[in-house]
Amino acid sequence: MSGETILSMQGIHKSFGPKKVHQGVSFDLHDGEILALFGGSGTGKSVILRSLIGLEKPDAGIIMFEGRDIAQLGEDDLIDVRKKIGYVFQNGALFDSMTVEDNLAYPLIEHTDLTNEKIHARIAEMLDLIGLKGSEKLLPASLSGGMQKRVGAARAIILEPKIILYDEPTAGLDPFNTHRLLELMKLIQRTGKKNGAIFVTHDIPSAFQVADRVAILYNGKIHAIDTTENIKASKDPFVQAFIAGEETRGL
Ligand SMILES: Nc1ncnc2c1ncn2[C@@H]1O[C@H](COP(=O)(O)OP(=O)(O)O)[C@@H](O)[C@H]1O
Ligand SMILES: [Mg+2]
Repeated sequence: MSGETILSMQGIHKSFGPKKVHQGVSFDLHDGEILALFGGSGTGKSVILRSLIGLEKPDAGIIMFEGRDIAQLGEDDLIDVRKKIGYVFQNGALFDSMTVEDNLAYPLIEHTDLTNEKIHARIAEMLDLIGLKGSEKLLPASLSGGMQKRVGAARAIILEPKIILYDEPTAGLDPFNTHRLLELMKLIQRTGKKNGAIFVTHDIPSAFQVADRVAILYNGKIHAIDTTENIKASKDPFVQAFIAGEETRGL
């Protein structure tokens, strides 16, 4: 991990009607790190991830990536951003009527000029990575929840994005499948081209297993952000209560 900032969110404010969700969210993502983002449900974690790929527009603040402010980009430029920032959606979000192979081929067909042969080779490589070799012709419905999440992760990384956003990827998974997914996240981190990743989760033990740093979203702001070790050792009573699972305000 080099520590260089590859993405920076500064002073983000966002309201939906009278509801103030973000009230000055600021943090940096470093090259090569997994940053875990904790926060109770409804605190605005998914809205942060959605803002990073331009699916939400902040009311104020900047999101710097590769010298541009994502918050100011139009749809054409956002297509480029979405190639570079992969999003593993909360519910896997596979196309139900398409086979595993077609789900994985979709971003490659949309965004690259690869030949069919190269597309097949890339899909085979991804299926190998996620432990689903030979599943090309299966429909998502015939896969377990854990397998669907792994295919969702594969689809998000197939264009080799610089940043990967994971929205509660272990939610609803049993301990075995949680472990497999965490191992896959670590593997992606090691094999990727210096990816940075943001891992949104409620699952604090899982986050501690894979995260380099941890950020806690509370009351519309990043209440604390530090290395996993420092967060665990924090003397801040709120941080301590939060990681012990005792902090339930807003959960
Ligand atoms: N498109 C929207 N319209 C109105 N309210 C929204 C919208 N998206 C999110 N919200 C509200 O913003 C808050 C934060 O949502 P979200 O980011 O999904 O929370 P979480 O931290 O659980 O991921 C919630 O109260 C939610 O109801
Ligand atoms: Mg969410």
